[in-house]
Amino acid sequence: MIDIHCHILYGVDDGSPDYETSCRMVDCLADEGVSAIIATPHYRHQMFSYPVQRIEDALTRLSAYAAGRHVTLFSGCEYHVNHDIFSHLESGRVHTLADSDYVLTEYSYTSDLARILDYTEELVMRGWRPIIAHAERYEVFQRRPRLAEEVIHQGAQIQVNADSVLGLDGRGMKKCALKLLDLGLVDYVASDAHDLDERAPHLEKCCSLIRKRYGEEAAKMLFETNPRKILM
Ligand SMILES: [Fe+2]
Repeated sequence: MIDIHCHILYGVDDGSPDYETSCRMVDCLADEGVSAIIATPHYRHQMFSYPVQRIEDALTRLSAYAAGRHVTLFSGCEYHVNHDIFSHLESGRVHTLADSDYVLTEYSYTSDLARILDYTEELVMRGWRPIIAHAERYEVFQRRPRLAEEVIHQGAQIQVNADSVLGLDGRGMKKCALKLLDLGLVDYVASDAHDLDERAPHLEKCCSLIRKRYGEEAAKMLFETNPRKILM
């Protein structure tokens, strides 16, 4: 498996607090069968600054540990979208996913569809490939999951969180995540892990649920085949 959304780098956002925790998160994901992780610290204006030097230092140090567990780490960012995203991507101020054209985008959960569509359209027009992080969290998709088809039509891909699928984030999120999966609109399932307690990785458990509900092929696509395309 490949985890494309994970707050595994220590001391850079609200994810892992320290090197030790990050190492235990690597252990946990490795034990679950993960061979590559894209580290995606938050960038959010006036909330998470995306400290590039600290991110790169943490990535270098943790990569050495991860290599011992046969896990490869890649750089990335979960970008809470505002208009700065275009200049930040073009100048390299924030990382894309594994230095590809794929960008993990997040919006306020009460955002209207037009805002998501507008930014998606402009990102695509400028040559980026936006992925909507944890689409099941948005009110607009919780009310009408089929509206996700519109952002897909605009050129975005959809990621859902393992915890949502498992029901660990409440019934509303689970219902929406499963509906998006039922409709065949989901491209990636990722951990979005922040620690080893409240927001620990649960990929293996989620993968086996998906295997039971949708079959082996679908599980492979969501956890391995699609994520691997980002790394190529
Ligand atoms: Fe996240």
